[in-house]
Amino acid sequence: MVHRIFAAGSLLLLFTAAWAAWWDYDREWKRYQGRYHSLLREKTKDEKVRQEIERARPEIKQIVLRSFARVDRCVTCHLAYDNPAFADEPEPLRTHPGILRHHPAEKFGCTVCHSGQGEATTYKGAAHQELEFWERPMWKDEYLQSACGKCHKEASVPGAPTLSAARVLYREEFACDVCHKIEGEGGSDGPDLTYVGSKPLHAFDFTYVKGERTRPRWFFEHFKDPQAVLPFSEMPNVDMSDEQAQAMTVLMLSLTSEKVPPEYLVRESTLRPELAAVGVEGHSLFEEKRCVLCHSLRGRGGTLGPDLTHVASRRNADWLFQHFKNPRQVVPGSRMPDFHLSDAEANELTRYVLSLQ
Ligand code: HEC
Ligand code: HEC
Ligand code: HEC
Ligand code: HEC
Ligand code: HEC
Repeated sequence: MVHRIFAAGSLLLLFTAAWAAWWDYDREWKRYQGRYHSLLREKTKDEKVRQEIERARPEIKQIVLRSFARVDRCVTCHLAYDNPAFADEPEPLRTHPGILRHHPAEKFGCTVCHSGQGEATTYKGAAHQELEFWERPMWKDEYLQSACGKCHKEASVPGAPTLSAARVLYREEFACDVCHKIEGEGGSDGPDLTYVGSKPLHAFDFTYVKGERTRPRWFFEHFKDPQAVLPFSEMPNVDMSDEQAQAMTVLMLSLTSEKVPPEYLVRESTLRPELAAVGVEGHSLFEEKRCVLCHSLRGRGGTLGPDLTHVASRRNADWLFQHFKNPRQVVPGSRMPDFHLSDAEANELTRYVLSLQ
C-alpha cells in the first residue's frame, strides 16, 4: 500500500514538473502580450477600446509574405512596433524606428532586414544571438546595412552610410572589379562575388582565422591580410584600415542568393530626387553647426539635448522645420540655440534628421 502511494506520488510529482516546465516555456510570449495589453489599457482613454483590450486573448501573431515564401512571427512579442505611444518602453515593446514608413510591415515583414528565424516564437529560437544550425542569426549594428543592399542597388543608399561608402571603395579606391565579377560585371582573375554573402559556412577555410567562425569574421580577416587566411592567395593586400575592412564585409554580406521579387528592387532612377540629396547638404549642415556637441547619434555625441538616432519616430517634418527656425517658440525655455537658418537650410536639416533611423 505504502509503495502504491509512493508510486502515485512520484508520478504526480513528475507530471507536475513536466507541466510546469511546459508552462514556463510556453509562457514567454504570453508574458509580453500580457504586459502589452496592460500598457495599452493605461495609454488608452477611449472606454470602448479599453473594453476591447480587456477581451483580447493571447495569440500567435504573424505576417505572411507570399512573395518571399516566408512567415514572420516576430510581432508575437514585438507588438508595439507600429504604435508611436510606445517610444519609451523597453524591448520588445518599443515603437520601431521610422524606417518602417518606407517599408510597411505587412509588405516587408521583419526578417528581410533583420534576418533571424521568422517562424520561431521564443527569444532563443528567433536567433537574436548565434544559434546552432541556423546560418543567419540577426544582424547586429552596422551589419544590418547588408540587408539594405539586397534591394537597394543605387550607389548611395539613404540610411545605410557604411554600405554606400563600401560601394565607392569597391569600385574607385581598390578597383576590386578588375578581378571580380558581380552580376556579370568585372574581371575574372578572382572568384565571382555575386552570391558570396550566401556561401555556406562550411565552404570557408577557417584554419588560419583567429576570431570566431562566422562569415563576417572570415571576410574581415581576409580583407586585412588575404595571405594570412589563405597562404597562397593571389589577392593583393591593399592595406585596408579596420573601418574599410568592416565596410567591405558589410558589402560582401549584402551579396546574397536570396530571391528578391523585382517589385522590391530599388534602382537609381526610381529614387525620388529630393531624397537622393539627403545626407549631402543636410549632413554637412549638421557637421558645420556642430549639433553633436549637444546631441548624440548612435551613442556618440553630447547629452545636453535628446539623442537624435530615432527622432523620426517622434517628430514630423512640420514640427522639425518650425523648431529649427525657432527652437524657443516651439519648446518654451529650450536651451537649443537659434541658428538663424534660412528656410532652405531648415528644410535640408529636416530631411536629414528624418532620414536618420
Ligand atoms: C519570445 C519573444 C520574442 C520574439 C518571438 C522575438 N523577439 Fe526580438 N526581442 C525580444 C526581447 C525580450 C528583446 C529584448 C532583449 C534585451 O533587452 O536584451 C528583443 C530584442 C530584439 C532586438 C534588439 C536587439 C537585441 O538583440 O536585443 C531586435 C532587433 C529584435 N528583437 C528583432 C526580432 C526579430 C527580427 C524577430 C523575429 C525573427 C524577433 N525579434 C522575435 C523578444 C522576442
Ligand atoms: C527595411 C528594413 C527593416 C524592416 C523591414 C524591419 N526593421 Fe527593425 N530595424 C531596422 C533598422 C535600420 C533599425 C535601426 C537599427 C539601429 O538604429 O541601429 C531597426 C531596429 C529595430 C529594433 C530595435 C533595435 C535597436 O537597436 O534599437 C527592433 C526591436 C526591431 N527593429 C524589430 C523589428 C521587427 C519586429 C520588425 C518587423 C515588424 C522589423 N524590425 C522590421 C530595419 C528594419
Ligand atoms: C526587401 C527590399 C528592401 C530592403 C531589404 C530595404 N529596402 Fe528600403 N526600400 C525598398 C523599396 C521597394 C522602397 C520604396 C522605393 C520607392 O518608393 O520608390 C524603399 C525605400 C527606402 C527609402 C525611402 C527612399 C525612397 O527610395 O523612396 C529609404 C531611405 C530606404 N528604403 C532605406 C533602406 C535601408 C536603410 C534599408 C536597410 C536597413 C532598407 N531600405 C532595406 C526596398 C527595400
Ligand atoms: C588581382 C586580383 C584581385 C583583386 C584586385 C582583388 N581580389 Fe579578391 N580574390 C582574388 C583571388 C585570386 C581570390 C581567391 C583566393 C582567395 O580567396 O584569397 C580572391 C578572393 C576573394 C574573396 C573570397 C571569395 C570566395 O568565394 O571565397 C572575396 C570576398 C574577395 N576576393 C573580395 C575582394 C575585394 C572586396 C577586393 C577589393 C578590395 C578584391 N577582392 C580585390 C583576386 C583579387
Ligand atoms: C547647445 C546645445 C544644442 C545644440 C548646439 C543643438 N541642440 Fe538641438 N536640442 C537641444 C536641447 C536642449 C533640446 C531639447 C529642447 C528642445 O526640444 O528644444 C534640443 C532638441 C532638438 C530636437 C528635437 C528632439 C526631440 O526628440 O524632440 C532636434 C531634432 C534637434 N535638437 C536638432 C538639432 C540640430 C540638427 C542641431 C544642429 C543644427 C542642434 N539640435 C543643435 C540642444 C542643442
